[in-house]
Amino acid sequence: MSLLEMKHIKKSFGDAEVLKDISVMVEEGEVLAIIGPSGSGKSTLLRCATNLETPDAGEIYHEGQVGLVFQNFNLFPHFSVIKNITDAPIKVQKRNKEEVYEEAKQLLDKMGLSDKADAYPYQLSGGQQQRVSIARALAMKPKVLFFDEPTSALDPELTGEILKVIKDLAAEHMTMVIVTHEMDFARNVADKIIFMDKGVTAVEGTPEEVFTSGNVRMREFLGKLSAK
Ligand SMILES: Nc1ncnc2c1ncn2[C@@H]1O[C@H](COP(=O)(O)OP(=O)(O)OP(=O)(O)O)[C@@H](O)[C@H]1O
Ligand SMILES: [Mg+2]
Repeated sequence: MSLLEMKHIKKSFGDAEVLKDISVMVEEGEVLAIIGPSGSGKSTLLRCATNLETPDAGEIYHEGQVGLVFQNFNLFPHFSVIKNITDAPIKVQKRNKEEVYEEAKQLLDKMGLSDKADAYPYQLSGGQQQRVSIARALAMKPKVLFFDEPTSALDPELTGEILKVIKDLAAEHMTMVIVTHEMDFARNVADKIIFMDKGVTAVEGTPEEVFTSGNVRMREFLGKLSAK
């Protein structure tokens, strides 16, 4: 069953056509990685998928709640960790307060942060903040969880910590769409990869198919990354 279907999505900002007829399908339990050069439209696609942006054309269907984890965590600075996690489920989803708190504590436990419930974001490391923001997204019980470069603001050690959390979620069959520059991670964890270039899907397939693709732009992109 597909939990997300985006069909023929187009989006322009002024004269710039950022998404030019993109279609994406994500099946239940699947992990889709989206890779591609800066400016190719990856974040715009995710923002359309999560209703933060309205496409100019095309159709989006998703089953139930979607969640989004940002590059820069985007926690509310004036809320404690536990309030960051419980606020939307209580206020937006109108769920039972005790139940939400109980689940939030379990999520913090799962993220290895059970001692940080009353801390404020500024008291946490980047990796801890990102784990809180993953817990916050999960607290909404999303059917699909989207990540926009979840590790690019983190140093290598903290990056590994977050990638492990995402890997564990994949093992639990959480349906996820991950924009990432971590090629090894995409290769190991994703079921399917989309290589986006200039607003189109240039290559799509299994990690094996995508990484061995003869597509010129894909080869250039991988060459630039390995030259770094
Ligand atoms: N709100 C906006 N207003 C105007 N232009 C925008 C807006 N959002 C994105 N763009 C432009 O759309 C293009 C694609 O941006 P997008 O953020 O989707 O790229 P990206 O693939 O996520 O890049 P990166 O890897 O650097 O994050 C860029 O040229 C960007 O400047
Ligand atoms: Mg981006």
